[in-house]
Amino acid sequence: MAMPQIKEAVAPAEPDIAVSTRNISKNYGDVEALKDLSLEFPRGQLTSLLGPSGCGKTTLLKIIAGLLEPTSGEVEVDGKAVTGPGEDRAFVFQDFALLPWASVLRNVAFGLELRGVAKSEREARAAKYINDVGLGGFENAFPHELSGGMRQRVGLARALSVDSQVLLMDEPFSAVDEQTRRKFQEDLLELVAVENKTFIFVTHSIEEAVYVSDQIAILLPRPSRVSEIIRPAGLRDKDVDNIRRDSEYLDIVDRIWASLRNYVE
Ligand SMILES: Nc1ncnc2c1ncn2[C@@H]1O[C@H](COP(=O)(O)OP(=O)(O)OP(=O)(O)O)[C@@H](O)[C@H]1O
Ligand SMILES: [Mg+2]
Repeated sequence: MAMPQIKEAVAPAEPDIAVSTRNISKNYGDVEALKDLSLEFPRGQLTSLLGPSGCGKTTLLKIIAGLLEPTSGEVEVDGKAVTGPGEDRAFVFQDFALLPWASVLRNVAFGLELRGVAKSEREARAAKYINDVGLGGFENAFPHELSGGMRQRVGLARALSVDSQVLLMDEPFSAVDEQTRRKFQEDLLELVAVENKTFIFVTHSIEEAVYVSDQIAILLPRPSRVSEIIRPAGLRDKDVDNIRRDSEYLDIVDRIWASLRNYVE
């Protein structure tokens, strides 16, 4: 991974909002998946959507991606209403969504191929991100030759290579073992520091959300609504190696668990 650069130490008085959802509702037939959801996602930061299974996290992410139309309400990216998928947003799917017949290089370059970028340029850009996510040397491997964690890195490299301002990540680390997941979380923190993109990250791991987020939106189910926004701001300046033993970290984890525990089936 590239070394992180230090972010601006002084936060602007008004956060720069890259993405906002306004009064989003989504019904699937009789199922009210989302109800009147309004959220703001600051630029250059990672916001987690955290909540129990079925609370509408994937639904909200797909609506922001423009892959799914809300029943009512709207999404704005840089002040413009979203009407469908666009180059300003890239989606990292829960199930990798890789082309099984194509090499790692082609898979990573695929997002650029769809956008009509010339072969030499897209392969150069893909190669850079393959290196950045730690897959250097595997350019010619096929998805079936990779572990689950490596496949997720391919998906991440693809999303990064298209250089979208907004990265939508649906439980991107769900299919890997605990050690790999921790490494991914550290790598993600570096990416957030380096890339100045807007990360919208779905997880149902409380610890993961507290570890990686600038802001956490806690969603409650049936109908889905935002119960609380938490900004673990103080944690960012601390030594990441010791965060999991930090009292502020543990307090936030406990507080979130207290608000979610009644909703776990
Ligand atoms: N295509 C669909 N048709 C009908 N109902 C759906 C559809 N997709 C989702 N739902 C329902 O909408 C609700 C929210 O689903 P969603 O997948 O957004 O939840 P989630 O928070 O991502 O859950 P998980 O943590 O399990 O991934 C659920 O009750 C689900 O059953
Ligand atoms: Mg989901």
